Amino acid sequence: MNEFDIADAALADAGKRRIEWALQEMPVLRGLAERFGRERPLQGLRLSGCLHITTETANLARTLKAAGADVVLCASNPLSTQDDVAAALVRHAGIPVYAVRGESTEVYYQHINAALDHRPVITMDDGADLVSELHRSRSGLLGGMLGGTEETTTGVIRLRAMAAAGALQVPVIAVNDAMTKHLFDNRYGTGQSTLDGIIRATNVLLAGKTFTVVGYGWCGRGIAMRARGHGAHVVVTEVEPLRALEAAMDGFCVMPLLEAAAESDFIVTATGDKHVVDRVHLEVMKDGCVLANSGHFNVEINIPALESLATNRQQPRTHVDTYRLADGRRIHLLAEGRLVNLAAAEGHPSAVMDMSFANQVLAAVYLAAREQRLDNAVHPVPADIDAEVARLKLAAMQVGIDTLTGEQVSYLSSWEEGT
Ligand SMILES: NC(=O)c1ccc[n+]([C@@H]2O[C@H](COP(=O)([O-])OP(=O)(O)OC[C@H]3O[C@@H](n4cnc5c(N)ncnc54)[C@H](O)[C@@H]3O)[C@@H](O)[C@H]2O)c1
Repeated sequence: MNEFDIADAALADAGKRRIEWALQEMPVLRGLAERFGRERPLQGLRLSGCLHITTETANLARTLKAAGADVVLCASNPLSTQDDVAAALVRHAGIPVYAVRGESTEVYYQHINAALDHRPVITMDDGADLVSELHRSRSGLLGGMLGGTEETTTGVIRLRAMAAAGALQVPVIAVNDAMTKHLFDNRYGTGQSTLDGIIRATNVLLAGKTFTVVGYGWCGRGIAMRARGHGAHVVVTEVEPLRALEAAMDGFCVMPLLEAAAESDFIVTATGDKHVVDRVHLEVMKDGCVLANSGHFNVEINIPALESLATNRQQPRTHVDTYRLADGRRIHLLAEGRLVNLAAAEGHPSAVMDMSFANQVLAAVYLAAREQRLDNAVHPVPADIDAEVARLKLAAMQVGIDTLTGEQVSYLSSWEEGT
């Protein structure tokens, strides 16, 4: 593989302008770039990132480089790469990128291996494909590593499964699990950008439509909240009683997906699970239903079942595949069932990625600063990093808060005072 692999170097200037635009909304990352540009805590460390190649990731990579890291990037999804951003990183930031929007699965893994040829001491993953490939076919690199970080829920689940099976041979920090990540990125970021992706792909009015959200986790909560804001009649389906109860008390209609499928105009999955929209649901789905996924992998909707039920497939618009079934019903699948917010829109807004990526930078610095390598396990982001990110974000938003008085500190730490 060459020193980089991108679609079109001529897009570099356009990409640079968009990266600068995103940076305006990333004050925490800007502050870290300034501070670590002086302190250089990652000086000379080889770092490979397998991340969505977006304007926000470009600003993360530039911050890591400012901190002294020797960075290369590959895509964490074949459909999420913004080719102008990849070009700008190569040409204007001197960061090698292996990512071409629409690449085949074979090229996707070639790119991951190119990022591993960099012999990283720190990995940054979004979905754990880099760390899995490292264990599967490049295990010789594991011993020399300081550790890795993981951006998303699905990646953390995979890594925990590896650790439980005794297969994980490197420490990984679960950035996703930081409060300043999932409370904001998964909820507000996925909420806004999923609706953005659906609207850009279809330009269909949501008001008055039945909009079903499958999974009421952090992402599902955000999607449901924003769909309601558009005037849709929002239905939630769940498998966890607590989450279902929460959705019901938040005012959403909760029912099994088999019932919801028959009346939904939109069905959006955000579970991290497989075939949650399955053949049985496709068989009863309303004519014209729009199907989209915002979970990490394209397995949430059973696409092979949809293909086998269909007699014909057409593409009326970019990112819309219309499947006609034998009984004449049409089902519109968006973005081939891949993350609709990244494939059909631009992913999360920069202001929310500012916090997620500040956690990534501080987690990398934490790995680099340790005298001894952490255990080969999935580790939480240290609480002081979480608190620091919240503090920096509030300061950037010019939001002030109160502090406890001395009397309150002693009251809250005592047990003697009661009724
Ligand atoms: N699109 C994006 O940009 C983006 C951003 C963050 C996370 N993600 C991904 O979105 C997915 C969800 O993440 P999260 O943080 O919301 O996870 P979460 O664990 O908070 O929530 C997932 C929910 O799905 C429910 N669920 C599982 N199987 C189900 C089924 N068959 N039917 C109905 N509900 C089911 C679970 O009970 C849980 O409540 C993950 O794959 C994650 O990696 C995507």
